[in-house]
Amino acid sequence: MRFIRVFLFILVTLLFFGDSPLPAQQILPAQHILEVYVDQIGPRISPLLYGIFFEDINHAVDGGLYAELLRNGSFEHTNRREGWVIERGERARATIVSEEPLNRNNPNYLKVELEDSAVKLVNTGYNGIPLKRGEIYLLSFYTKGDFSGKLSASLVKGEEKLAETDVVFQQGIPNWQKISLKLSPKKDATDARLVVLLEGTGCLLLDMFSLMPEKNWHGMREDLLRMLESLRPSFVRFPGGCLVEGDSLENAYRWKETIGPVEERRSKRNLWGYHQSFGIGFYEYLLLCERLGAKPLPIFNAGMSCQVRRGTQYCPADQLDEWIQDVLDFLEFANGSVDTPWGAVRASLGHPEPFNVEYIGIGNENWGPPYHINFEKFRKAIKEKYPNVKIVFSGPPSYEGANFRQAWKWAKENDVEIFDEHIYASPEWFLANTDRYDTYDRNGPKVLLGEYAAHTPGRKNNLQAALAEAAFMTGLERNSDVVIMASYAPLFNRVGWSQWVPDLIWFDGYRVFGTPSYYVQKIFSENRGDVVVKSTLTNEEYRVFGYRYKHLYHVVTYDQKGEELIIKVVNPWPEDKSVWIDLKGKVELTGEARIVVLTSADQLDENSFEELKVVPKESVLFGIKNPFEYTCKAFSVNVIRLKVKR
Ligand code: AHR
Repeated sequence: MRFIRVFLFILVTLLFFGDSPLPAQQILPAQHILEVYVDQIGPRISPLLYGIFFEDINHAVDGGLYAELLRNGSFEHTNRREGWVIERGERARATIVSEEPLNRNNPNYLKVELEDSAVKLVNTGYNGIPLKRGEIYLLSFYTKGDFSGKLSASLVKGEEKLAETDVVFQQGIPNWQKISLKLSPKKDATDARLVVLLEGTGCLLLDMFSLMPEKNWHGMREDLLRMLESLRPSFVRFPGGCLVEGDSLENAYRWKETIGPVEERRSKRNLWGYHQSFGIGFYEYLLLCERLGAKPLPIFNAGMSCQVRRGTQYCPADQLDEWIQDVLDFLEFANGSVDTPWGAVRASLGHPEPFNVEYIGIGNENWGPPYHINFEKFRKAIKEKYPNVKIVFSGPPSYEGANFRQAWKWAKENDVEIFDEHIYASPEWFLANTDRYDTYDRNGPKVLLGEYAAHTPGRKNNLQAALAEAAFMTGLERNSDVVIMASYAPLFNRVGWSQWVPDLIWFDGYRVFGTPSYYVQKIFSENRGDVVVKSTLTNEEYRVFGYRYKHLYHVVTYDQKGEELIIKVVNPWPEDKSVWIDLKGKVELTGEARIVVLTSADQLDENSFEELKVVPKESVLFGIKNPFEYTCKAFSVNVIRLKVKR
């Protein structure tokens, strides 16, 4: 039976393709023909197209990018003892009080009273403190009081002390004073703890404990920074998300509370349910943008709290000016000369040069008339003083339906510059909507796709989600004259401490890995090109139970500097698909092509700390002649960079 089938296959092949002009290896015709019209140039790719969206959700900042290793060193968390175990001997008291605060933004502290006794304080950070042998850890705290005795601080793993240092108190400390110590562990650890032992007599006030690896960049973790760097983002949208809105105006994000000495920043519970120290605040975000070479896109509260949680709180109309003033002050802080009050503050923090912020957003996932009224007021005041700053208008959380359409109608009628869309949808939705932006009005507002991610059943960060996002991104790129910025959301997930999946980058105290979606973002960011080149694919439509998908999703661009045609093709299906790539028009190839492929055996494959199953593989091909055949493996994202002769 098998023999007969093979015989018939050879016979049919010879009958149909015996005289084929195709090269000898081309026995069967490719399933698709991708024609690239090299002389027909489409829209310019927005130089800002791919960016990142930063929000302190999933402990992205506290317990994440912020290198601080202790939790609740300030005793300000809602549960004042969170993160601490406090043991006391007889004739000892340890209470958290607020009578003589370090400053008004940091009211609570620990008061220890001893009579020839001892108190032990233990902080385990975020499920254990990671340590590296021989490296320096900077321990600091503020203290005040009349105490005679000893404070021993040690880093302990199990029963073993890995590092220890002492402070002897002989006389009273009348005013709050910062004590700074260094610890260098003799072994690596992933789950150490800080133990502070106080022995003696008297009363000591303690606040703002901090344990920082000496190796940090403006308080940030280098390993996580490198993950961001390798995405090469063109913009950073920060600091949220719903975080900007707050679940009441009380915990809405106020940038002025996040700058200056960390102990003076007004920390608070965020709407994701945990306490934020703001150890990374607006100044650090601006430094981060500078390091990444990315444009800052700060988002400001529009004078209203989150519209999808427990009832929106609107700022009274006569107080809106204060919220508007915050934005104006920020622009002076970021861009103003050092002679202006806020420019001088920036200079005092160590950055006399302006940050040149060009884009800001007013509101996140806001909609409806109250938002429109506020937006208009913000815009008027901002444009009066800063006419060149571009202002992003917030779309609702939905990406279709009545609220969405109403928002677009208002945006068009009111000359909005940039509209922020958010799309969290199934992989099938993404695959069926890659042409979404083809029909957008070219003369209307531009689009910031400020948040998007494919949500698979169980919301897994698997290859299936990444493929759907990649397919959709071919549509973003083709329509980059309309979609000028796009960022996946959320960015970070501290394993075991998260509120939201899927996310782009997963980490713990000492490890980090990129999800398949991360690698899709990286591949697209690294292979953007400068202009879209017209291309068509035969046999493109793929109908499944009435749903219209495509066999392959593609976009072609040209990189002027590198003189390369960049062909991206996504095959989200379980079969290999062959493509005959035919360049039409005046073009000569050097024969060299750089190839990047992201694939794995199963679309459900995920990455983990232990195994990176889905990572891009690069190769170089030589001797390529136009036209040529390329096989897109099942479940794959492919980039073919063809070097052309000029
Ligand atoms: O990305 C997580 C959340 O999703 C954002 O905070 C919010 O804008 C959206 O609803």
